[in-house]
Amino acid sequence: MGARYDTLAAKDDLFVLPTYARKPVLFIEGRGMRLYDDEGQEYLDFVSGIGAVNLGHAHPAVTEAVWQQMARLVHVSNLYHVEHRAELAEDLSALLGGGWKAFFCNSGAEACEGAIKLARRWGAKNKGPAATRIITAERSFHGRTLAALAATGQPSKQEAFAPLPAGFTHVPLNDAVALASELDGTVCAVMLEVIQGEGGVYPCDHEYLKDVRRLCDEHEVLLVFDEVQTGFWRTGETPFAHQAHGVKPDVVALAKALANGLPAGAVMATGTAAEALTPGDHGSTFGGGPVICAAARATIAALREEELGSRCARDGAYLRSGLTELAHRTGAISEVRGHGLMVAAHLTAPIAAELVSEGLGRGLVLNNIGADIMRFLPPLVCGKAEIDTLLDGLSELIEDRDGVS
Ligand SMILES: Cc1ncc(COP(=O)(O)O)c(C=O)c1O
Repeated sequence: MGARYDTLAAKDDLFVLPTYARKPVLFIEGRGMRLYDDEGQEYLDFVSGIGAVNLGHAHPAVTEAVWQQMARLVHVSNLYHVEHRAELAEDLSALLGGGWKAFFCNSGAEACEGAIKLARRWGAKNKGPAATRIITAERSFHGRTLAALAATGQPSKQEAFAPLPAGFTHVPLNDAVALASELDGTVCAVMLEVIQGEGGVYPCDHEYLKDVRRLCDEHEVLLVFDEVQTGFWRTGETPFAHQAHGVKPDVVALAKALANGLPAGAVMATGTAAEALTPGDHGSTFGGGPVICAAARATIAALREEELGSRCARDGAYLRSGLTELAHRTGAISEVRGHGLMVAAHLTAPIAAELVSEGLGRGLVLNNIGADIMRFLPPLVCGKAEIDTLLDGLSELIEDRDGVS
């Protein structure tokens, strides 16, 4: 670590609130799935800014789109029509199959907050004033703002911030009976991640998703998918994870990879859900600004042109089979989960944080969830050669620990 790192890390300690325990590295440049620190050391990035840089770092098409728009007009607010916003909404509608409308915001938590407000407004209009409750899953994650936190099914993240907004009920994932038992006239929506991300990469079962859609229809309840982490081909061939299951939601929350690492979010709504909000109900100063929308349009176009969904499906399968082989050979992994390039290796010992810090020393940017889950979210440009480097590195780290090598 260089002098520049020392200066900035010390200033972070002095001037930035300590909400994160940051890793001892200063990344100053990136290209594709490679990152470079202040001393020129190269790293392979298996985190991509927590699943946000699906195209890889410094993609020229996104950079060009941002430069072009920055030089013309940066911000006038949502009081006016701007270039790129309507076209981006049209692009997103098409990716979702057509017939969708967008509300633009700046992050995943905001997208979930927007979806929650939309669902409550829809409930009041379509079911009556008592229909305010939203059912979400245990272990889910929907963001850190208060309503998104209340929706989150992780008590450890919530306890210090009571009282949280009321009206959220958490049920076990993949248990349609538990969900059915909660559906009554007080419910306006069910909100789920198709694959729980921050909770540890736990996918919804195909049959469960079918049951959830049927139950929502039977009880006249909106189905909201939080695709903040799973969106934009992260999970393989389809742009959004739910499409692989043929289950159509009413509302989708998007963010993370929408503008390849720039802060962007969207609430997508179709059918009667798209009629729930009226002028004055919700808003954002920055959401849907022309620079971000230009970046997002360039991102979506490049993800399509480079066929990163197919590559993600193929290379994700390669990563999962490599991790499964590592599991059999070392006994250090009890389960490999996920789809596409959203993958977790559940470890048999609580060494995930150590693997992350030792990996960094070997040029591997890794991520753990809690003590025993390694999560891999590389840019979708990640190929077999990079996955081989990862698997070799993990294998060596594990064997060094066991004293096997
Ligand atoms: C599924 C899901 N929803 C919401 C969020 C919150 O997004 P943000 O951190 O952009 O507010 C996240 C972040 O990890 C997420 O994974």
